[in-house]
Amino acid sequence: MADDTPRGLRRNLTNYGDAGFAIYLRRSFARSMGYSPDMLDRPIVGIAQTASGFNNCHRHVPELVEAVKRGVMHAGGLPLEFPTISLGEIFLNPTSLVFRNLMSIDTEEMMRAQPMDACVLIGGCDKTVPAQLMGAASADISAIQLVTGPMMAMPYRGERLGACTDCRRFWAKYRAGEVDDEGIHEVEGNLATTAGTCAVMGTASTMACIAEALGMALPDTAAIPAVHADRLRAAEASGRRALALAREGLIPSRIITPASVRNALRVLLAIGGSTNAIVHLTAVAGRRGIGISLEELNRLSDETPVLVDLKPTGQHYMQDFHAAGGMQALLHELRDLLELDCIGVSGETLRERLERTPHYVDRNVIRPRSDPFQNVGGLAALFGSLAPRGAIIKRSAADARLFEREGRAVVFESLEDLARRIDDPSLDVTPEDFLVLKNAGPCSTTGMPEAGYLPIPRKLAQQGLKDMVRISDARMSGTAYGTVVLHVAPDAASGGPLAFVHEGDRIRLSVRERRLDLLVGAEEMARRRAGFVPPPIPARGYARLYAEQILQADQGCDFGFLRG
Ligand code: FES
Repeated sequence: MADDTPRGLRRNLTNYGDAGFAIYLRRSFARSMGYSPDMLDRPIVGIAQTASGFNNCHRHVPELVEAVKRGVMHAGGLPLEFPTISLGEIFLNPTSLVFRNLMSIDTEEMMRAQPMDACVLIGGCDKTVPAQLMGAASADISAIQLVTGPMMAMPYRGERLGACTDCRRFWAKYRAGEVDDEGIHEVEGNLATTAGTCAVMGTASTMACIAEALGMALPDTAAIPAVHADRLRAAEASGRRALALAREGLIPSRIITPASVRNALRVLLAIGGSTNAIVHLTAVAGRRGIGISLEELNRLSDETPVLVDLKPTGQHYMQDFHAAGGMQALLHELRDLLELDCIGVSGETLRERLERTPHYVDRNVIRPRSDPFQNVGGLAALFGSLAPRGAIIKRSAADARLFEREGRAVVFESLEDLARRIDDPSLDVTPEDFLVLKNAGPCSTTGMPEAGYLPIPRKLAQQGLKDMVRISDARMSGTAYGTVVLHVAPDAASGGPLAFVHEGDRIRLSVRERRLDLLVGAEEMARRRAGFVPPPIPARGYARLYAEQILQADQGCDFGFLRG
């Protein structure tokens, strides 16, 4: 912070045309909250407080806030918490993604408008961390990301259950008739049993690791379980460090750079992370004017093995990753692939950080480079006549036997159409067909739901079929698995080729060649395109802003006017 920069309450004065009056009035009103004049002279650390009755993953945020405050006070600052929008993944209609950009605007504007020298951003559930990182990247005010941490996977009838890979596993069994009504009701009460985010390497956990890999969270804080005492110590340390960040002028634009974004991509690939994270990381980087090309993703993916054996790709849970050595151990394994001059919120470079060897590594969970869990990265981008701007497949969580094939399209025009027909015994479908879902992309009225993991048609599930090729412009939960092609861009609602796939068309998938092609001639496609009508723009409110501004998945589904 330069010496002439106003600090604490003197920052961002309310406009009265009289600065002296503004600070006098502000101090007066701040004193009404019981602060002594000495406290009001301190630099201020804002704490973005996202506890909400509609967000189970954040139910311990008040406890984290208290620990952050302890750290700020210890460092000589004044901690002031403020509320922002909170996005509980399971509680939002049409989807949480629709509101991610709104939360990023809220975070950015409140960081900028209120008098804070630095900010601790407490987030966790899927869209909250990307929204906070996007907001901080745009506000460019010193900020530390503190994640709420993952839930514990607790034992149930002799096996551990953790949201939400196990949610899907049991739901698939229920659909196949292997679990009855009473059984699924009992499982429902045992999937998510503690505070914190989903217990596997889903989107929340992936974004926690990405925040740390970017340098926006303190070292080794990504994987600490929500209920572990170390989580509170991480909160205290984040509060203590936030003030130093402001003093050192360490702002997001110095931390989020092309090199740190590449490091974050490497980590995303090495953890077998969520497909959603590529959308979110693209949006965060985009706020600083940094592009991520899907071609580069493919290059990095081919060089970066999956090292972490966690669900949904593998078998363990986030608590095991933490106990196995966590991010410090993982980054050590990736060391020669990383760009080590990147600086993080700790104030040290990645090189300096990695001079510390991990205390312990459990090789059952974090594999060595010489014996990876999978030889190549978890994600791959596909291109072709069906996806001119790309599509994503999580090859680490898919059945490789389905990667090279041609299939007949079984088309669902919308989510409603899918719900209506997928379990119809007369549905004309075989295990070799490709299920295609349209109008579930960012420009659709559905808000790009996590519907890309189309259910196996009941009649095939009951025959024991576990996986088949599924293609859509939707997203997929980071906790899901299967041969699922997602984020097809441009999406159907914007008039992309996906909109013009007809029942019975042939589609060719080749993960090896990174291709996704609709085998329909140009003339026929032109004929089909002629009658295209885009969805109507809503008349008012945020829905209208969303419809007018939303970008495609390859641009992070950000709003056009928010990008850097
Ligand atoms: Fe919040 Fe999964 S529902 S992280």
